[in-house]
Amino acid sequence: MVPSSPELSIVVPTYKEAQNVQALVSLLDRALTGIVWEVIFVDDNSPDGTARVAKDLAREDARVRCIRRVGRRGLAGACIEGILSSAAPVVAVMDADLQHDETLLPRMLDEIRAGADLAVGSRYVEGGSMDDGFSSIRRWGSETATALARRFLKVELSDPMSGFFMIRRERVEAIAGELSREGFKILLDIVASTPEPLKTVELPYSFRERQMGESKLDSLVTAEYLGLLFSKISGGILPVRFLMFAAVGVSGIIVHLAMIKLAAMTMDVSWVRGHFSVVQFAATMIAMTWNFVLNNQLTYRDRRLKGLQFIVGLLTFYLVCSFGTLANVGVASWLYGFKASLWVAGIAGAIMGAVFNYAASSVLTWRD
Ligand code: GDD
Ligand code: MN
Repeated sequence: MVPSSPELSIVVPTYKEAQNVQALVSLLDRALTGIVWEVIFVDDNSPDGTARVAKDLAREDARVRCIRRVGRRGLAGACIEGILSSAAPVVAVMDADLQHDETLLPRMLDEIRAGADLAVGSRYVEGGSMDDGFSSIRRWGSETATALARRFLKVELSDPMSGFFMIRRERVEAIAGELSREGFKILLDIVASTPEPLKTVELPYSFRERQMGESKLDSLVTAEYLGLLFSKISGGILPVRFLMFAAVGVSGIIVHLAMIKLAAMTMDVSWVRGHFSVVQFAATMIAMTWNFVLNNQLTYRDRRLKGLQFIVGLLTFYLVCSFGTLANVGVASWLYGFKASLWVAGIAGAIMGAVFNYAASSVLTWRD
């Protein structure tokens, strides 16, 4: 007898998950009784032999498949490739590290069978949660990213950063050419790129703590996320406010250079040379304060902060600028790593920093 083809494909991107693959397949086997399913591991040639482990399993279990990609990296790209390799009408995406609750899959499938296009596992709807192992800085990052997505992409999901969802495959096939291969934010990208709204349900789940291996989400991923936001945002015309903000930023650079010059002129030159980091730090603080005051006066005159709010705003602005610097340096070094010229890398980094500062400060410092 020819086995019937699967109704559900579970696409699992993997990078260095050799210790988790077997356990995940066992959990899926237990959770998905009564459903004809397959799992597709999409591995980016992990040095720990994840693909080999998956293929060993595939030899014994016809429901297991593995795509081994060589010379490529990227969570989103791996997910897209897995989805497009499938023939099942419904596909799910989930992490390999057992952080996503596989027992939610049958309920997601029920929702799709009942007519939904998309079912999302959410940590932020009533009943959902996050393990305490999730550091407060990541929690903050996740919330900020969600706020940015809401604001700029008009995405209404409670957890657009979720890496755990199920969707009708045809909905991804239709927009596959538009999706970004970089970064982590595949769900957000799908939702923001789909012309007519997807019928969506969100189901709560508890994000578990990772037991084996380690997370690959780092500052570069954050920078890539901002890049995704940027590319989606610039699909329209750049907002006037952003141009204003950028102009203020340029004036800040001039202030910064002027401060260094002033120090060199008014103080003993050998002292300035010996204490350059002190001078640089002071000039940076002055330039940031300058930028804050100008933005408060001009860019955000309609939301101008006064009194105590002014102080709090200034402090959040310092914080935003510090992260903006990270995004800037991250992007510049990343591009430089691909043999981009110093100029291209430097300018791309500066643009990234400016966009980040703009986006984050509009949410944190001058929220409306
Ligand atoms: N093929 C491939 N290529 N897979 C990758 C890559 C890559 O470059 N980077 C990461 N992965 C795989 C990991 O092996 C894991 O199965 C999954 O993608 C998620 O990676 P983690 O490194 O565990 O991410 P996380 O736990 O920090 O982030 C998760 O939670 C976030 C929500 O806070 C992910 O689900 C994110 O998508 C989600 O936004
Ligand atoms: Mn994880």
